[in-house]
Amino acid sequence: MDFPIFHLDFMGDRLLIAIIAVLHVLINHGLAVGFIPLVTWLEYLGFKKGGQQNVVNNEWDTLAYRLMTVAFIITTTIGAMTGVGIWLSSSLVNPASIGSLIRVFYGAWFVEWLVFVTEVVLILIYYLSWKKSLTSVEAKAKHIRLGTALSIFSWITMSIIVSILGFMMDSGSWAENKTFMAGFTNPIYLPQLAFRTPLAALMAGALALFLARIFTPKDSAIRLESGRKIALWMLIAVPFTLIGATVYYLRIPDLMIGNLPVAVGTMEFQSWYDLLVKFIIGALVSVLVVAGLVFFKPTLKIPSVLYIIPVIGMLAFAGIFERIREFIRKPYVIGNYMYSNTFRKDEYPLYKRDGILAHATYSPVKEITPENQLIAGEQVFLLTCSRCHTTHGINSVVEKFEDMYSLKPNESLNKDLMKNYISHIENARYFMPPFPGNETELEALIAYIQHIQSTGLAPDKLETSLNTK
Ligand code: HEC
Repeated sequence: MDFPIFHLDFMGDRLLIAIIAVLHVLINHGLAVGFIPLVTWLEYLGFKKGGQQNVVNNEWDTLAYRLMTVAFIITTTIGAMTGVGIWLSSSLVNPASIGSLIRVFYGAWFVEWLVFVTEVVLILIYYLSWKKSLTSVEAKAKHIRLGTALSIFSWITMSIIVSILGFMMDSGSWAENKTFMAGFTNPIYLPQLAFRTPLAALMAGALALFLARIFTPKDSAIRLESGRKIALWMLIAVPFTLIGATVYYLRIPDLMIGNLPVAVGTMEFQSWYDLLVKFIIGALVSVLVVAGLVFFKPTLKIPSVLYIIPVIGMLAFAGIFERIREFIRKPYVIGNYMYSNTFRKDEYPLYKRDGILAHATYSPVKEITPENQLIAGEQVFLLTCSRCHTTHGINSVVEKFEDMYSLKPNESLNKDLMKNYISHIENARYFMPPFPGNETELEALIAYIQHIQSTGLAPDKLETSLNTK
């Protein structure tokens, strides 16, 4: 309400954040949080294999170095940029919620910033001093300690952010007492951390197993042995991931579980929910099978292409998990406090009384007249629906109504049906927030939706089209 509205009509605002954020999580978990400790462990194994004569076993050290090269390049470029991208996109799409989160988590974010800067410095030193560390046993031992410190710092950055993610789903007792500690120790925090930590290890294992296959010569002893070590790493992570997932699932509030079918498959495919769940389980089992074969049957000739299955399986699994997490907290962006449309729950009575436009700083229309009804309706749409819907793009509000009422081509939307629906929208679909405006605003919104249905106009074209009439 206090900010101008940014709206991407072709793809929707949600998708903009989702693409950037999911990519970031995949890189953060798969190539930093889970990957760095694995690389450090492989480096340590190479160090031990060096024996009395050499500082390290060259083959092992080179493998660890190559894996780290991949992690270094991707995390410091796409990883870092998508991290900034999350801030950019989410503060464009929902500045009010980011504002609230910053007020609650100010101290946590400040610490996180310090930890993150330390992490960046450590990763630079760790990677760039690798060659130098080969000069003496002491230098190598120090380098491995550096890798351990880097692993710890990457985990801490994740662990702070996970608290904020948990808070957005279920703000716990914070809603009553509003203290930082109540927010930080929200009920979903530790369960989600208990899930993400082994998940990151498993994702990293899948990636490393695939990369090690590329980086080692065919039929070599190191391919066999390093493959076994990485597979062991994955096999250890699997039970923890399953336990973490269960603990986390059990902590998700019941109402949110009701959102799951649409969260997993969208409304169109929600009836495929069971099939999709089977698919997700299938992906995990295939990860387990590949890791199991590599570990227990190391001499078995597994075609290289099969190594890509755990990678795809894990990336898809983590991606779906993020989409679900983002979706099931709806209708809230901050659990029980702020709805996804940026309106605070407590302020609803105020808006019902005065209307939303009266409080919308950037709306050109504050009071609705027959002349400005469409312009007002557009504002109401932008304020109450556009965080999740477009006019004609992905999740188009026009199409949703047409589909819901099974309209024939060229058939117009019915005003009374829509009015009735939007007045009780939260009962129809739990994931949508109640309509915050008053009766005239609801009518303006409907007039606007009917208008864009018949004209096909996008939001920024309305004013020009009205002026030229
Ligand atoms: C918090 C996000 C959010 C907000 C805000 C929101 N919607 Fe939705 N709406 C959705 C989602 C998600 C779907 C289902 C999309 C899918 O999976 O196909 C949906 C579906 C719908 C449907 C189809 C329902 C059905 O059962 O077929 C209609 C109609 C609709 N929305 C209208 C609106 C209108 C009008 C507004 C504004 C007053 C609005 N929505 C606000 C997220 C939202």
